[in-house]
Amino acid sequence: MLVLGIESSCDETGLALYSTLAGGVLLAHALHSQVRMHQDYGGVVPELASRDHIRRVVPLLRKVLADSGRSLAEIDAVAYTQGPGLAGALLVGAAFAEALATALDVPSVPVHHLEGHLLSPLLSPTPPRFPFVALLVSGGHSQLMRVTGVGEYGLMGETLDDAAGEAFDKTAKLLGLGYPGGAALAELAERGRPDLVKLPRPMLKSGDLNFSFSGLKTAVLTKVRELATISEQQRADIARGFQDAIVEVLVSKALRAVASSGLEQLVVAGGVGANRELRRQLDQRAEEAGIAVFYPEFEFCTDNGAMIALTGALRLQAGNISNPAGGAGAFAVRPRWPLSCA
Ligand code: KG4
Ligand code: ZN
Repeated sequence: MLVLGIESSCDETGLALYSTLAGGVLLAHALHSQVRMHQDYGGVVPELASRDHIRRVVPLLRKVLADSGRSLAEIDAVAYTQGPGLAGALLVGAAFAEALATALDVPSVPVHHLEGHLLSPLLSPTPPRFPFVALLVSGGHSQLMRVTGVGEYGLMGETLDDAAGEAFDKTAKLLGLGYPGGAALAELAERGRPDLVKLPRPMLKSGDLNFSFSGLKTAVLTKVRELATISEQQRADIARGFQDAIVEVLVSKALRAVASSGLEQLVVAGGVGANRELRRQLDQRAEEAGIAVFYPEFEFCTDNGAMIALTGALRLQAGNISNPAGGAGAFAVRPRWPLSCA
């Protein structure tokens, strides 16, 4: 079975072709990031995002077909991100996918964006096996989930306010790093000195598996305001203090979640999963605790079409098709959609 995946929930258009033959193979994937376009505005402009998705989707489809040596007629199903995300951006992918599926007379599979992130480590050469605990840390979400199979997700804990990626982005903005700030802040933090800027570890000892990151951003704002002028080294020290605080909380809660679940595998997914310091500390502490940690490949940490194609294929294999071939052609996007309802 050949599954086309389409991701368009925010500021990346991603397409991919995944074959379920030979245990599952990603045949091709292509991505266009809108970062440069939104940079001038300091953040994502939803209307511009939608229009750009329209421009990119056909050339990217042509590219994945050419790269894989496949033709449109060979596609057996079209998976697309149905939500959560920006309504207009989602509509582009959904309309395109449903139209293509109707024209090809194949099923379409609406996919939950976070489910895509959560299953993305299955694209790695050494994938985890069900069941596992997943730490999902993206720009919009921070959750700990117990995953027992495709479509079986139990929420263990989540952020009460800002998501981890959002905290990275907002703090980066405070330090003058522009949009999107997460990766730039992480880079700056590498030049920062440890323990010079001490910031709180929110909810570290709360006794539950929830997070709260908005206070951390405010603590950084206070530090920045205390300084009349800020040198490059001071900015790096603050970035280091921020990253150390957030990483300590994420690592500690993730390991606690695994311990309380009785499982032995942890999957880390979402854009913040690309953070090298998070990976370094998790690897070290998980090894001490006898826990195996799995990450998506770096290119599949942030938004991409491969994770949507994979999730669509797994849903189809599980017999979970929402829109069979020859369906009514009606569809909806779900800008807000809890994963536990997927
Ligand atoms: O998963 P993703 O691409 O989008 C959402 O579904 O939200 O995640 C994007 C988030 C952004 O907040 C970005 O700043 C953050 O991931 N991010 C990072 C790093 N790379 C991306 N945060 C920390 N360190 C990084 N290296
Ligand atoms: Zn995402």
